[in-house]
Amino acid sequence: MSSLLVDNIGELVTNGVGEGPLGIRRKAAVLIEEGRVAWVGPAAYAPAADRRIDAGGAAVLPGFVDSHAHLVFAGDRAAEFAARMAGERYTGGGIRTTVGATRAATDDELRATVRRLRGEALRQGTTTIEIKSGYGLNVADEARSLRIATETSSETTFLGAHVVPPEYADRPDDYVGLVCGPMLAAAAPYAKWIDVFCERGAFDVDHARAILACGQAAGLGVRLHANQLGPGPGVQLGVELGAASVDHCTHLSDADIDALAGTAHSDGSGTSTVATLLPGAEFSTRSPYPDARRLLDAGVTVALATDCNPGSSYTSSMPFCIALAVREMRMTPAEALWAATAGGARALRRDDVGVLIPGARADLVVLDAPSYLHLAYRPGVPLIHQVIRNGVPQ
Ligand code: NIG
Ligand code: FE
Repeated sequence: MSSLLVDNIGELVTNGVGEGPLGIRRKAAVLIEEGRVAWVGPAAYAPAADRRIDAGGAAVLPGFVDSHAHLVFAGDRAAEFAARMAGERYTGGGIRTTVGATRAATDDELRATVRRLRGEALRQGTTTIEIKSGYGLNVADEARSLRIATETSSETTFLGAHVVPPEYADRPDDYVGLVCGPMLAAAAPYAKWIDVFCERGAFDVDHARAILACGQAAGLGVRLHANQLGPGPGVQLGVELGAASVDHCTHLSDADIDALAGTAHSDGSGTSTVATLLPGAEFSTRSPYPDARRLLDAGVTVALATDCNPGSSYTSSMPFCIALAVREMRMTPAEALWAATAGGARALRRDDVGVLIPGARADLVVLDAPSYLHLAYRPGVPLIHQVIRNGVPQ
């Protein structure tokens, strides 16, 4: 059994036992065996190993867990972005443009885009990434989007209910029937989760409830896009259905916050429904950011994710989202890093990633910086020195 020691770590973020909410250890080392963390402790007591990586006194963190990304698509919408920056509003209408390009693309073209974005994310420290369908919107193209997504991630999400495609524009009930029937049947073998864009202009609460319930009956876990463009019933629907995560949460009422807070576990370990905030979307649509403080102060578990997609947030960078969360959403650097690692893991109901404790998957990021604080302190700077995924240096 070959072992790898990451040694001479100046600041190790474990999200487990250690100093402060991030479980920080100083002058530490991590032993990796068989792709898992086998031991964490003081560098002075580090066991021998077959190979050694010297972190040079730098900070080491768990790999980022990006729990919300739309990577299977073709084309881009740079012109739509430019128009927005010149004053146009984002409505989600551009999704249909990407649907046209995606349907016209070959499998290899879609596969190349997923791999390119996945590679981009990995180089920026993301070691777990969720991938949604949602730009096929017919049986064949949703199924193939998910089949291609499974080549890259086990966290795949069926988003056939992204918008009603043009050919069903005047009969949304029929489209819901298609999503719950043949589309779900074709998608379910490749999906772990089901998601709905519950928003004015996309799916109303009754359609969203029906679709999510069908997905649950087919064995998929629930997550949803909710309260992104305006107030609405999405967040409370998510709580009602026991969703792992409600994503965006830009426009929340007191009742929405109370509903989320009401899903708290009795052991004080946070809420069972996570609020996943996607500040890249507010950045790229020039919209007000969600009120992270209100959620955190109410005890709601918060995750940060990129929402990487060609329309509302074409970034694969978790460090960028952390910097936005700190600067624009008044999260502390520690809260933002936790949300981008352990928080993302909670949003995917995973306990083997987002933490560096014995038994966890050995996903580590070595920074080119002495502290995780630099992720927000030095925005836009490539601070990811080395990524280890599943115990393998990338
Ligand atoms: O999460 N809100 C819906 N879906 C995506 C946007 C997709 C697009 O504009 O292409 C989002 O922001
Ligand atoms: Fe999204």
